[in-house]
Amino acid sequence: MPVRRAIVTGSSGLIGSEAVRFFDARGWAVHGVDNNMRADFFGPDGDTTPNLNRLRLAVRQFTHHPIDIRNRQAIDQLVASERPDAIVHCAAQPSHDLAKDRPFDDFEINAGGTLNLLEAARRHCPESPFIFMSTNKVYGDAPNEYPLVEQPTRYDYARPQDYEGIDESCRVDHCLHSLFGASKLAADVMVQEYGRYFGMPTVCFRGGCLTGANHSSAELHGFLAYVARAVREGRVYRIYGYRAKQVRDNLHAHDVCSAFLAFYESPRPAAVYNLGGGRGNSVSVMEAIDRFEQLLGKKLKTEYVDKARVGDHICYISNLQAFKRDYPSWDVSRTLDDIFQELAAAANTA
Ligand SMILES: NC(=O)c1ccc[n+]([C@@H]2O[C@H](COP(=O)([O-])OP(=O)(O)OC[C@H]3O[C@@H](n4cnc5c(N)ncnc54)[C@H](O)[C@@H]3O)[C@@H](O)[C@H]2O)c1
Repeated sequence: MPVRRAIVTGSSGLIGSEAVRFFDARGWAVHGVDNNMRADFFGPDGDTTPNLNRLRLAVRQFTHHPIDIRNRQAIDQLVASERPDAIVHCAAQPSHDLAKDRPFDDFEINAGGTLNLLEAARRHCPESPFIFMSTNKVYGDAPNEYPLVEQPTRYDYARPQDYEGIDESCRVDHCLHSLFGASKLAADVMVQEYGRYFGMPTVCFRGGCLTGANHSSAELHGFLAYVARAVREGRVYRIYGYRAKQVRDNLHAHDVCSAFLAFYESPRPAAVYNLGGGRGNSVSVMEAIDRFEQLLGKKLKTEYVDKARVGDHICYISNLQAFKRDYPSWDVSRTLDDIFQELAAAANTA
């Protein structure tokens, strides 16, 4: 059987680097696209060079291309020359808060870069699954309209019908997104359109909090990994509003990649799924701090900012039922505690 080829964008980042490892381990040849823009966005904390170096040592058939996805011609040439069996698009400006300071970079990377890839795929490999990492921020702050109850350590949904979390029917308009949410939504709709209009096998995975030891965590992006880092390094961790009871669901990057593979093996056009850790892997900021303090044996210095981040979700749990219905072999394999242990161990050896 010929070796299958994937192009993975954002290949030095958290999800992209995991995807390179994951597909490489299954015998694929992987072409990674990453220009280390994360260092430009977040400074030294965001530098993905160590990740790229680790990747080069760990994988067998990997070619790195330091291309900017805004470079339409270079992207077109790469897709034309490789004609990959799958495109896994993870490159992004990923921060909700940073987008307002870099609106053109944010939109040109998130929306324009995605269009460059889609169009190159349509020209050169329209049959190949196009897998896009979207985000739950496409729902803007609409999830905050779900009635909530305040519990001692977290918020939770008040109505029994919301127990499993937010599903894909949550509306995406008439709400506040942040510029990041808006640029990702533009890309998400475009990915769906290439599926519907051209019949291409495209999927948008609307991620909850995605995590793993390879996160080059920075204050503005990488929730759990950054809490672990702050505890270890004695940094002050700023909590923005909601009395630290805001809830996120966390999915390990490995489980994100197994969802990519499931879609590759059984693709469909214009698919959209929420993808996070679900209720079982949900945790509030307060609970997460507590667990890392136990694991690392140190107290975290916190500063409470009595103002929530603009458009921040109060309680977000991804409802995974649609993806599990269409891909019944997929499930969350890394529990919340597995994730805590891994991040604490990584923080200790960093
Ligand atoms: N990590 C999360 O919690 C999370 C949650 C929901 C959605 N997502 C989405 O998943 C995807 C991957 O996220 P991540 O956490 O791995 O982010 P990341 O920042 O770790 O990785 C993104 C990579 O893209 C690269 N990149 C940025 N701009 C680029 C450009 N113009 N050209 C080439 N490369 C560029 C960066 O250098 C970085 O290595 C993103 O689309 C993000 O919006 C992530």
